[in-house]
Amino acid sequence: MVKSGMQVTDMKLGKIISMVGGDGEFSYQRMGVLQASAIKTLEPLMAEAVKQMSLPKQGPLHIADFGCSTGRNSISYINFIVKCIIDRYLEASENNGHVTCMPEMLVSFMDLPGNDFNNLVQLLASEAKNAKDLAGSVNGANVGRASNYFSTMMGGSFYNRLLPKESMHFVISTFSLHWMSQIPAAVTDPNSPLYNKGRSWILGSDPAIAREFAQQSMLDLDNFLSSRAVEMAPGGIVFAYFTSRQDAANPENQTNPECHDCCFVGTDFENAWNDLIDDGVITVETRDTFNIPMYRRSKEEVEASIIKCGAFDIQYLQLWDDYSICPQDELMHMLQFPKSFATFLSAWVRAMLGPIMEAHMGRHNTDEFYVRYQRCITARVTSLLSNPKAQQKYKIFSTSFLLVVLKRKVLST
Ligand SMILES: C[S@@+](CC[C@H](N)C(=O)[O-])C[C@H]1O[C@@H](n2cnc3c(N)ncnc32)[C@H](O)[C@@H]1O
Repeated sequence: MVKSGMQVTDMKLGKIISMVGGDGEFSYQRMGVLQASAIKTLEPLMAEAVKQMSLPKQGPLHIADFGCSTGRNSISYINFIVKCIIDRYLEASENNGHVTCMPEMLVSFMDLPGNDFNNLVQLLASEAKNAKDLAGSVNGANVGRASNYFSTMMGGSFYNRLLPKESMHFVISTFSLHWMSQIPAAVTDPNSPLYNKGRSWILGSDPAIAREFAQQSMLDLDNFLSSRAVEMAPGGIVFAYFTSRQDAANPENQTNPECHDCCFVGTDFENAWNDLIDDGVITVETRDTFNIPMYRRSKEEVEASIIKCGAFDIQYLQLWDDYSICPQDELMHMLQFPKSFATFLSAWVRAMLGPIMEAHMGRHNTDEFYVRYQRCITARVTSLLSNPKAQQKYKIFSTSFLLVVLKRKVLST
């Protein structure tokens, strides 16, 4: 358990970043539904990526999920990937006219040490039970065991080495790589010209402050790639999906400027902080020393890092601009009910940011923050009711996303 009252300035982020665990009202298990449906749309691309993977000559075939969180979404896309791999072996058997021996599969679920791995363990146990109940009714390779794969869990930062050399064949990471390993020191130093005063993130900040974030984030990505370069077997695949931005030249535009009012950590989020200060719940310094450890890299920044690393061929690198993880008609329906929409949005944001906010200013102040955040959202959404045009533009679940598929180059001997 993380002690509250620490500043996001001086604590080790790796110990406190986590999504809300368990299955309660703010849990990622419940609130990660939008991410789950977005990942579902990636399945054809995942299937394609599995086809591009070089198959190991002997087992085990090792899959890893970097940033698995509490498990619900992760287990779902891992099951899909495993199914695609099994299909590949079955197809190979059909084509060869003899059984192509399928290796045993091992899935490593990775996240930071503060992650609720207990939840994941329990979900995996019920998956295994379901698979066992199904066993016997389905014919085919690997079916009939408790589960199609063995699993292991590891708490550590994906910005470091976590696994043995050349041991991995397929790596996936979704909605995770925009998290930073640390906040740059100058940004949280009240005596520094780069002190991020008056806001809790870099959206619309002084460009020099946003560039500090950019530098740290690029260092993080370099470390991610160089670590995976060692861990991946030749021909292994990295499939990574994370939030990005379109404006490559200006990192302070983490979302397009016209979207600041409809970014979930944009205007209303900052107004909730201001209300918290105005109501005397926290000091200005408490807000100013909190920074969301998130940076949306541009496609250009990511491409430069991959080229610098030199260990991977780019199979796919695409920016989806202004992509909504919630269908527009569903969102329009939700907006008709401002209060319940505000409750949902607030719980969705809290599932991701709650733990670091509580570590920074305690549970009570975080509760108070989300009361104000809900109020700001309710007021905005109510004001949109009489303005259908403005309502259409309130794309709260839209942002840019980057999908990167990399193949580990074959090592020269
Ligand atoms: C929004 S969740 C994504 C969970 C799941 N992949 C999905 O798409 O629903 C992001 C996860 O990344 C993890 N994370 C952030 N920084 C990390 C790091 N440096 N190393 C490992 N995991 C990290 C967080 O703890 C969190 O569980």
